[in-house]
Amino acid sequence: MACLGRVSLAFALSPNCPRLGGLASRSEPSYISGVQGARQSHPLPVNARAQAIAPSATMAVSARAKQLVAEGRDVLSFSAGEPDFRPPQAVTDAVAAFISKHPVGYSSVRGLPKLLDAVAADLQAFHGRAFTRPEILVTCGAKHSLAGLFLVTLSPGDEVVIPAPYWVSYPEMVRLGGGEPVVVGCRPEHGLRLAPEDLERVLTPNTRFVVLNSPCNPTGVAYTGEQLRALGEVMARVAPQAWLLCDDIYRHLVYDGFTQESAFQALSGVTEQIVVVDGVSKSHAMTGYRIGYLAGPKHIISAAARVQGQMTSGAATTSQIAAIAALTDPSCREAVVRMRDAFAARRSMMLQLFAGIPGLRVQPPQGAFYLFLDISEHVGANTRFADDIALATWLLEEHLLATVPGTPFGAPGYLRWSYATDEDSLRRGAQRLRAALSQLAAG
Ligand SMILES: Cc1ncc(COP(=O)(O)O)c(C=O)c1O
Repeated sequence: MACLGRVSLAFALSPNCPRLGGLASRSEPSYISGVQGARQSHPLPVNARAQAIAPSATMAVSARAKQLVAEGRDVLSFSAGEPDFRPPQAVTDAVAAFISKHPVGYSSVRGLPKLLDAVAADLQAFHGRAFTRPEILVTCGAKHSLAGLFLVTLSPGDEVVIPAPYWVSYPEMVRLGGGEPVVVGCRPEHGLRLAPEDLERVLTPNTRFVVLNSPCNPTGVAYTGEQLRALGEVMARVAPQAWLLCDDIYRHLVYDGFTQESAFQALSGVTEQIVVVDGVSKSHAMTGYRIGYLAGPKHIISAAARVQGQMTSGAATTSQIAAIAALTDPSCREAVVRMRDAFAARRSMMLQLFAGIPGLRVQPPQGAFYLFLDISEHVGANTRFADDIALATWLLEEHLLATVPGTPFGAPGYLRWSYATDEDSLRRGAQRLRAALSQLAAG
């Protein structure tokens, strides 16, 4: 009898099973042996890898905001990292039809073939490059694409360049993968965009990836093709071993006529060392479906698929059915455009409402659904608040405004304001912020 796969419990616990038997015979718990009595307890330790991972700061704000709401306080929350819209109707219809007709079994680890083809077509339309099925992995959200990629590519000493302000999860996921995050600041005088000379300073022979998130969470800043090319040229010259990691999760959400160019297009003739992370969470208001995808070299996708096979067995089947509809049904394309237009209108409205608030500066962003507010005049030396965290806490506790402080994004002196919420709340929130910061300015 084999002791792997379908294990006979009696056999697995016997010393003859090399996998499990030794364990059972060495320290047999009382519920197995039936022997009761005083036992020494041994605390289960958290390992160093997990201890190095910081909790999500954005979650902390929303948890406190929810607590205040539960206490009956009229909190206005602008901390959301997800669209407030419903997914396109065709998505929910596809799920309902599927579950009413089929058993919901496991999908293949890499993703349903129909979804892999839909992703390939979507990537082809944007990047102008034909990805084959073995070059794509469907994952449980884009977050899991990133985590999987770092897990299979990073080794101790490998560096991942992360431009700040950055999405809070990048450094933690790099650490989880065993690599080292190298944060490089994007200066306000460069519009909070990574400048080629700043990138050049931090590239080394150990650079494995440079992360590019355009449009960016938390700033909404997006890169033109020319700006992408300038960064790619520095990489090819200074760190030719490095790969560009494009997190394109917000690429559909660009405004004011801005066109998000594909890195493959922009870097044509410079480098094709590009890995893509993308998904339907933000563009199709499908955060809870947890569908993302990774596109890159076959051997990397195979390795990430092996890890995924052992961790999750793949993304949820019903969510993949939903994503097939999202990517192939023409009505979904229209829904994405409608949502994008709604975000564009809110963004313009907020820029107007924020104009002239004392001590608040904001650069009009090109995309995503965030405004990154420079409130540095209100924090630090000679002000009431030590830092943006203290100010954000005061805004929440005293003015019932939930925002996310800039520090966890690697950008002290800022607040992230999400406009993925209804217009009435946005107007009322802007009024509260004006009142609060005017009060501070008046001393
Ligand atoms: C920049 C960025 N990348 C990736 C993700 C993860 O997306 P998903 O919800 O598909 O895991 C997020 C989510 O907030 C994000 O802001």
